[in-house]
Amino acid sequence: MTDILGEKGMDLLLREAHTAQAWIDQPVEEKTLRALYDLVRWGPTSANCSPARYVFITSDAAKARLKPSLADINLDKVMAAPVTILVGYDMEFYEYLPKLFPLAPDAKDWFTGSQQLIHDTAFRNGTLQGGYLILAARALGLDCAPMSGFDNALADAEFFPEGRIKSNFLCCIGHADASAYLPRTPRLEFSEACQLI
Ligand SMILES: Cc1cc2nc3c(=O)[nH]c(=O)nc-3n(C[C@H](O)[C@H](O)[C@H](O)COP(=O)(O)O)c2cc1C
Repeated sequence: MTDILGEKGMDLLLREAHTAQAWIDQPVEEKTLRALYDLVRWGPTSANCSPARYVFITSDAAKARLKPSLADINLDKVMAAPVTILVGYDMEFYEYLPKLFPLAPDAKDWFTGSQQLIHDTAFRNGTLQGGYLILAARALGLDCAPMSGFDNALADAEFFPEGRIKSNFLCCIGHADASAYLPRTPRLEFSEACQLI
């Protein structure tokens, strides 16, 4: 077994990384958000379709637009976060396939007339890209608070009124107040989650 990242790297990405519950007063600069996207975009997706779309909500005005869709339990955490990323998926992602997957010039045609395939592909790969986003943010020294406690339809009407992009989940990023972490919850054992066949 190789140990390329080292114990510290694996702690940073997963083992010691906690979901943020509160934030210290430290901004996240635009150049960091650009560096974050520059990492995330290299994560693999089927036929390189890259359907995730990201809205970086940073200003008070933009937060006010998100507020009505938030579940009460998430209100304070989102309002206090330096940045909240609305992660969506583009239901017309296939328009970019001639650029993204020139290896198969007809790739766009695979999706013609199949709303189910379009949705499944966009949601599956967009969700994977959301996972890459969390790991990339942690790799850059940021903390994350992903959340699905919001009204997707309300958020879609506010941020994606043309209907092409659908919201998936929110991910606040910033620098966590470590004193507010919840106790670490257990994870399933190998025998509970895995089959080795
Ligand atoms: C997709 C997703 C949705 C989540 N939704 C919420 C949420 O709406 N509100 C909340 O407080 N936490 C939410 N969480 C946080 C999880 O409960 C938390 O990440 C998990 O319990 C692990 O906590 P830990 O990282 O501190 O071990 C969500 C996490 C994920 C990945």
